[in-house]
Amino acid sequence: MSKKKQPLKSGEKILFLIVTVFIVLAVIAYAALETYRLRSPEPIFPNKTHFNFSEQGKLGSRLFREARCTSCHRALRNGTNMGLSLDGVGSYRTLDWLEAFLLNPEQTYGSETLDHGEAPKEAAYVARLPDDERHAIAVFISELKADQGSVSSALPPEGRSEFIDDMVRIWAPDGWKGKYQDIREKDVVEAEE
Ligand code: HEC
Repeated sequence: MSKKKQPLKSGEKILFLIVTVFIVLAVIAYAALETYRLRSPEPIFPNKTHFNFSEQGKLGSRLFREARCTSCHRALRNGTNMGLSLDGVGSYRTLDWLEAFLLNPEQTYGSETLDHGEAPKEAAYVARLPDDERHAIAVFISELKADQGSVSSALPPEGRSEFIDDMVRIWAPDGWKGKYQDIREKDVVEAEE
């Protein structure tokens, strides 16, 4: 028994037409945006992280990969998204802090840590790296800067934002006010540029 193909109902035709128009428009818009992006002399999305590596920093960047930091961290385009991204860390941690942390994680954090610290914690080996290697890695991390207010910056945008004020008022439980300090009211230790 052969099945006859049913002709499309007019409602179905209209639906197909709408979907087709959407897809065609999306393809055209994508092609137009890409063409514009590739021809534009300036990047159309501003870059919010920057780095200017010293010789030590470049060495540290290589050691950072060799020492398997990338199995838990992300920096530049290397590493995993599972753990802590270190992009921009140099804008809110000083080189001294980073060196202290890598050597004595818990004392420097002032609280218990997850992976850095004494064995059998997984990143215990970091504190035992040769001093010069750990130093170069710390220099590398301290050179990863981020603009304030960007996704990889620890600091919210400069100035007062009504939106953030509202969010804090609505979502932060009252108990937090005494327990934590609002980062926007804190004097930030600026790492030297
Ligand atoms: C097994 C996973 C793991 C490995 C490997 C690892 N880290 Fe970490 N790292 C963490 C975690 C988790 C934290 C948060 C502190 C904690 O709980 O240990 C952290 C925190 C840090 C911080 C502090 C960031 C901040 O601003 O608070 C730095 C810097 C850092 N790691 C650098 C490194 C370097 C450099 C290496 C390689 C030599 C490395 N880590 C290897 C998991 C890891």
